Amino acid sequence: MFVGRTGELDTLNDALARASATGGEPQALLLGGEAGVGKTRLVEEFATAAGRGGAVVALGGCVEIGGDGLPFAPFSAALRALRRRLPAELARAARDQEEEPARLLPELGDSTAPGTGGGRRDEEGIVRLFELTARLLECVAADRTVVLVLEDLHWADAATRHLVTYLFRTPRTGRLVVLATYRSDDIHRRHPLRPLLAELDRLRTVRRVELGRFTREEVGRQIAGILAHEPDPLQVDEIFERSDGNAFLVEELAVAAHEGSRTGLTDSLRDLLLVRVEALPGRERRSSSSRPGRRACTSPTSSPSSASPAAARRRRWPTGWRCFRPNGSRPVRPSDVYAVRDAE
Ligand SMILES: Nc1ncnc2c1ncn2[C@@H]1O[C@H](COP(=O)(O)OP(=O)(O)O)[C@@H](O)[C@H]1O
Ligand SMILES: [Mg+2]
Repeated sequence: MFVGRTGELDTLNDALARASATGGEPQALLLGGEAGVGKTRLVEEFATAAGRGGAVVALGGCVEIGGDGLPFAPFSAALRALRRRLPAELARAARDQEEEPARLLPELGDSTAPGTGGGRRDEEGIVRLFELTARLLECVAADRTVVLVLEDLHWADAATRHLVTYLFRTPRTGRLVVLATYRSDDIHRRHPLRPLLAELDRLRTVRRVELGRFTREEVGRQIAGILAHEPDPLQVDEIFERSDGNAFLVEELAVAAHEGSRTGLTDSLRDLLLVRVEALPGRERRSSSSRPGRRACTSPTSSPSSASPAAARRRRWPTGWRCFRPNGSRPVRPSDVYAVRDAE
């Protein structure tokens, strides 16, 4: 069951139609939203329909590995996906590029010249690599619509961020839709994605879509889809209240309620919260205790490096969420995780 998002799907489908039209212009979109709000699900819904309509979808995700991420990881993954779908076309597009394609994707290189994948990373080489990626995409998208999805840009390495900017900024041809997602609640003031977002904002060619939380009515439909029956309105009220319309939380709370969980939290949600509470500095951790708060928190912990401790602490929680501070201070136990709640 897919709930709501009609406006957002319209925007995505409109971009797809523009890209696919005869002499179509490439489209660039940025989809932002807090963790668990439903970015991936929306992308899946869009990509599945696009695929059914004849587009080739290539997906690459950034992963959280600490530090600055693997260079070009999402592009390598997406090109690999493209190569699986269109081996002959990608080989043809890569043929005249000497050894360069191997630097992006070893499979694209000459198999008799191993080791080119680790090539030099000087500035000129990087620019050529960007140009090469753009050309490969252009070639493949000359004859068919290609949807390139880059998920979770907030975890992207510097090279990927630069390449995204390059792709979005430089005028291109081809039936190409580039859709990048990022977690907007995790982009603190000094996050490296900030300058990229600011720069892309200045480009009128990049469409920004901000995905919001569900309304009560939408939460009701989501719960109905999960439980496979109409939920009790009181249950909808409660889950709406506790989740604040965050799709991930709605799902976890609905499943927990369905399974008759005593705490109202699923194991996975409890684990998630525990990890996050444990990652808090000691003082904060001790003070996040006891009484069940009304809301749980889905914010990931990011690794604070250069920011002040106060800023680092603040940024562990999404906007509007805070560590609940009761009067006393007790150490955190598994049952204490409720104490993390919205401070409203
Ligand atoms: N429109 C929707 N309809 C039904 N379920 C949804 C919808 N959007 C998200 N969900 C569910 O909520 C959970 C979190 O969504 P997800 O797309 O993974 O969030 P995000 O990528 O923003 O972190 C998933 O299990 C997903 O299936
Ligand atoms: Mg996601």
